[in-house]
Amino acid sequence: MQVKHGFIGFGNLAKAVYQGLKEEEEIEFAYFARSRKEADIPYYGRMEDLTAFADVIWLMVKPQDLSAVLEQLKTCDRAGKTIVSPAAGRNIAFIERYLGKEQLVVRIMPNLAMAYRKSVTAFATNQPENENATEIFGLLGKLGKAVQLEENGFDLFTAVFGSGPAFILSFIQIFKEKMQEFNLPGPLLDELLLELTQGTTLYFAQNQKKHSIEELIRNITSKGGTTQAGLDYFRTHEIGKHFEGILDAARKRSEEMSKNGD
Ligand SMILES: NC(=O)c1ccc[n+]([C@@H]2O[C@H](COP(=O)([O-])OP(=O)(O)OC[C@H]3O[C@@H](n4cnc5c(N)ncnc54)[C@H](OP(=O)(O)O)[C@@H]3O)[C@@H](O)[C@H]2O)c1
Repeated sequence: MQVKHGFIGFGNLAKAVYQGLKEEEEIEFAYFARSRKEADIPYYGRMEDLTAFADVIWLMVKPQDLSAVLEQLKTCDRAGKTIVSPAAGRNIAFIERYLGKEQLVVRIMPNLAMAYRKSVTAFATNQPENENATEIFGLLGKLGKAVQLEENGFDLFTAVFGSGPAFILSFIQIFKEKMQEFNLPGPLLDELLLELTQGTTLYFAQNQKKHSIEELIRNITSKGGTTQAGLDYFRTHEIGKHFEGILDAARKRSEEMSKNGD
């Protein structure tokens, strides 16, 4: 059976979901936004037309734009439709305040790797028994790994898995800046760093079932060698604590957004 998915907002994340799912034969897509975007799916210029089209309605706007969208959405016919929201710091109760408790709401926290079916996505819903919610969970599983999570876990999850790609890339950027000494062209440097990160990921993937991360690090570390010297610096300067600080700051911001609605 053909299922119709409608995006309200068609920015970075909506495009990633579309890219990840566009080969699925049983899904049709369309979107509504205030202005038409470059896209190869139909554009609806009115929210009520998009909601009439869609079985599943994705709220793909920034958290601060969500209230305005929900104000408009509550006047549209939404009976029997599934609402999916990835908005950071906006819980299910927030959405129910506009659409009512009988509306099936699925809250998710994904990342942009949905485009490559490699997201890690948290899932919560107000109707766990509803099979339409189960279908969305299955769909998220196609876009990477999906996990059911209590909503009180979303702030930390957002910091680690939602914002995580930006933190990992910032770390790679430090390597890149250090490598400027070699005067290599930027694109070549990016390729080398990509090989480094893919090689590391593969090493992790191939061994993670049998070895802990500590063991994998130990395998690269010879006593008194270069890796040892770097890791000693890492430990004596408590770099790990600073990394933790990054995640704590992101989590705190998510908590603030949840409380203040900003
Ligand atoms: N990006 C990520 O990696 C990521 C990860 C996890 C969660 N999220 C969540 O995903 C949501 C979307 O993020 P994003 O990065 O995709 O944002 P984005 O790139 O800024 O896209 C937002 C879209 O919303 C549309 N929009 C804004 N106000 C609107 C309105 N009143 N009616 C209809 N459309 C409206 C915009 O188009 P117009 O201005 O033309 O209307 C634009 O297409 C956010 O809530 C964010 O918290 C994002």
